[in-house]
Amino acid sequence: MNVHTTEDSSSGHHGTSPTEPPRPAVVGRAGPRAVTGEDPALRAAYRLCRRLTRREDPVQYALIQLVPGALRPACWALWAAANAVDDLADDRGATADERAARVEAWITGLDQDLAAGAGTDPVRHALVDTALRWDLDLGGLRGALEVVRDDTAGRVFADWAAWRAWGRGNLLPWFERVRELFDRAGVPVALRLDHLDGYERFLDGFRLTDILTDLAADLAQGDLLLPREALERFPGAEEDLLGGRWSEAVAGLTAELTALGRRWVTQPRLTHGMHPGPATVLDTMAGLLTAQLDAVEAAGPTLLRTAPRPRPAAVARVLVPARLRSALAWRLTPLTIPPHRPRAGVPRATAPAVLAPDSRPSTTALRPPPAHPSGIRPPRIPADRMPRHVAIIMDGNGRWAEQRGLPRHAGHRAGVRALHETVHGALEVGLRHLTVYAFSTENWKRDSEEVGALLQAMREELDDDPYGELDVRLRWAGKPDRLPADLMEALRRREHATRTRGGLTLTVCVDYGGRDEITRASAALARAARAGEIDPDRIGEGDFARHLPDPDLPDVDLLWRTGKEWRLSNFLPWHSAYAELYFTDHAWPDVERHHLWEALVAYGERRRRLGAASPPGRPAARPRQG
Ligand code: IPE
Ligand code: IPE
Ligand code: MG
Repeated sequence: MNVHTTEDSSSGHHGTSPTEPPRPAVVGRAGPRAVTGEDPALRAAYRLCRRLTRREDPVQYALIQLVPGALRPACWALWAAANAVDDLADDRGATADERAARVEAWITGLDQDLAAGAGTDPVRHALVDTALRWDLDLGGLRGALEVVRDDTAGRVFADWAAWRAWGRGNLLPWFERVRELFDRAGVPVALRLDHLDGYERFLDGFRLTDILTDLAADLAQGDLLLPREALERFPGAEEDLLGGRWSEAVAGLTAELTALGRRWVTQPRLTHGMHPGPATVLDTMAGLLTAQLDAVEAAGPTLLRTAPRPRPAAVARVLVPARLRSALAWRLTPLTIPPHRPRAGVPRATAPAVLAPDSRPSTTALRPPPAHPSGIRPPRIPADRMPRHVAIIMDGNGRWAEQRGLPRHAGHRAGVRALHETVHGALEVGLRHLTVYAFSTENWKRDSEEVGALLQAMREELDDDPYGELDVRLRWAGKPDRLPADLMEALRRREHATRTRGGLTLTVCVDYGGRDEITRASAALARAARAGEIDPDRIGEGDFARHLPDPDLPDVDLLWRTGKEWRLSNFLPWHSAYAELYFTDHAWPDVERHHLWEALVAYGERRRRLGAASPPGRPAARPRQG
């Protein structure tokens, strides 16, 4: 796909030196065209998504207008895809089975298009491009799409808990993709852990508003998407609704539900500490949902005949100040627009050449990881039980060598094989982020012979390029000014050469220290405050995370240490604040890929509550996936 990226056009202006490869383009106000590119089919696909959004859902369209131009095409594509699937499920010209089959065919088509890197259907074409460009986890949408497919058989909810599980299963994955998009653009929408419940409530409010608005259309099809528990509080309301009769019971029910919806969409603390850009979008969404609920309440009996629309003046009252606020919020925010990346397994032939020839993205064909000699295969781990980010303290090399009467450096060399094994296992099982601790800021205390041998082993590893043909993006994290220049350059070169790969992101921490990282983030924040870019009284966790040296490193879900030591040794303190901890006794050089898989399975059995009191029985490995 010949996609013009802002990186292509701006690389010359960023003045990168040969030792410092360009990062993805950092732009202030790139417009949609910068990311939809010059490919006419792709541009037409995005235009269609935009038209569909504007025509079918002007309110969502207005909300999307509040995000920077460079992010809008992705939002239109996501919206249009969700809408396309809903339309297939709702088409009453077909039987329930036919509709389910059509949705299923759309899902299968998406899988095929993703594998091919381009879609035959224009909406999917835009969606696949969006996913590849922004590295969005479309696998996370599968559950949401299957909910829509199964909706075709009709839904009855006994209580609010069942209703909530359904609504969140459908809505949350789409919202999560938008959050991912902001993440990738360098504006992480950090939700404070104590706000997660509020976030899910907000989505419940969104869903309830939608259902109340579309009551007439749903009833015409015999659907009543409200829980029995709510209906039963107003005897007769269910029969009246299904019979199309406005009654006192129906009026009482709608009054109660609109009040509930208002409470749910009003979560004032939700956006505290959030970047003002996404915060404005969420606050505006809440304002528009409230205006919509006002319209539902004012509709009276007409609610059973037509979808109420809020008064234009009420919408303007929310949107006009929001436009000003968001323009201001984004003006000072540089965005990171990733270069287009190839689909898994197939390199992009037209990858932009922006550095010296030897650091161009690798164009050798990617291959799957070599199988383990024993033939063992990875376990199947359900998506909602899979950690997104595993971090490993690879400990025990020295003792492993000493036990064998070998010098310590022999242990470090043996540890390299264990890392290869782990990376192969991670690729096989589909892990997205793996971060390994290779050398700490404290390890300089070791004698110079051991330090020299360790750094030499790293040089040789980089020269050998063991992941050359694997779908591995290599990144380095650590203190920038102490490692030997040749090692830094080799690290930067491999970082750059693999930057368009999207299978597994392998972050290698060399001369890394968690306190050093936090100290540097604090210094960066202080500089921003001194420059007047940030108000010290309003610094939130999201601001801090954005000023970390590697702001796109996700939170660690699972932290594993080998070597029979139960401590963290200054590893990823910010990112591991809520990690599940896992310790094993064997020395790192003895690790095989199945040890990683065992760690993943153990993680899947953990109950993560993130501070909430989650009810028994609720899957807890990734509570946010609902
Ligand atoms: C971990 O193994 C690797 C590095 C610290 C570089 P060690 O070298 O710490 O091994 P032990 O803990 O002494 O056995
Ligand atoms: C942590 O291990 C660092 C790495 C694995 C690279 P150490 O062996 O250096 O940690 P301590 O000294 O046991 O805390
Ligand atoms: Mg050690």
